[in-house]
Amino acid sequence: MSPEDLAQVLSVLPKFDDPNLLVGAQTADDAAVYKLSEQLAIVQTVDFFTPVVDDPYLFGSIAAANALSDLYAMGAQPLMALNIVGFPRKSEKLPLSVLKEILRGGSDKATEAGIPIVGGHSIDDPEPKYGLCATGTVQPGSHWTNQGAIPGDRLILTKPIGVGVITTAIRAGVCDLVVEQAAVDSMKALNRQAAEAGRKVGVRAATDITGFGLLGHLKEMLKPGLRASICFSKVPVFDGVMALMKEGYIPGGTRRNHAAVASHLRLDPDVSALEAILLCDAQTSGGLLFAVGPDKAHSLIEALTQQGQTAADIGMFESGESTLIQVSS
Ligand code: CO
Ligand code: CO
Repeated sequence: MSPEDLAQVLSVLPKFDDPNLLVGAQTADDAAVYKLSEQLAIVQTVDFFTPVVDDPYLFGSIAAANALSDLYAMGAQPLMALNIVGFPRKSEKLPLSVLKEILRGGSDKATEAGIPIVGGHSIDDPEPKYGLCATGTVQPGSHWTNQGAIPGDRLILTKPIGVGVITTAIRAGVCDLVVEQAAVDSMKALNRQAAEAGRKVGVRAATDITGFGLLGHLKEMLKPGLRASICFSKVPVFDGVMALMKEGYIPGGTRRNHAAVASHLRLDPDVSALEAILLCDAQTSGGLLFAVGPDKAHSLIEALTQQGQTAADIGMFESGESTLIQVSS
């Protein structure tokens, strides 16, 4: 759903006032954090979606990596997960072997993350859906949130963007295989090593880049008094994405993301409208976005690079009355 529609719907729900709920729904964070004791908090998240690629095993891997990413974005250690499955009961086109492959992909990814999938729930659904409800643990207070960045902090991104555009082109049957492979490899990759690098160095705030796109999730890190400036040319983008966008392969969700943040954007004259839309591209299983003190930015980039991760310094937080995002070329 679009960020605006979601905010409107969620506004009718009661707000909880529980001192043990360290992170709830108010700050649109990646997962909830609930303190059980001074040493232990549980971290809970859920994510599922329709297939982004044709190969069922890959779809399962990507959906699981995407769901677990919200735990990594909180600085949590994954503990276990449950499957969420929508699948047609009787279908010529989709035999049960397809579902087996989806679940095998999810299970292998969970194993890679070091956790078991301990159960799940399935419903009869004409359009397949898959994901996880995942639980992790963290020491209360040492968890990350999407809040807490301060002016001067650098913004470090750990995966290229553009997979929304690429999966749209894949569905249309026009995507170059090399371009497709790069996006699939990125989507199925866990954010575990990136999170480990962040823990090692110490970061001020974190989130992961998923459905609302880079700028949508960056906006959630802002508040009155804190704005951000990013440099378009520093943002890593998969090869071929701009060309596909010029041919019109732009997901509806990406356009909605752009519309939702447009009033907060200040584009330098040499940043094109298409470039701004690309920065809002709806990602599946995107990278982590860290806010890190300027003194630690270099160490973080080094630690990420050592782990074989993308480490792009794309901009910084600044002080400023309104929650603006300035985009330079
Ligand atoms: Co998230
Ligand atoms: Co999520």
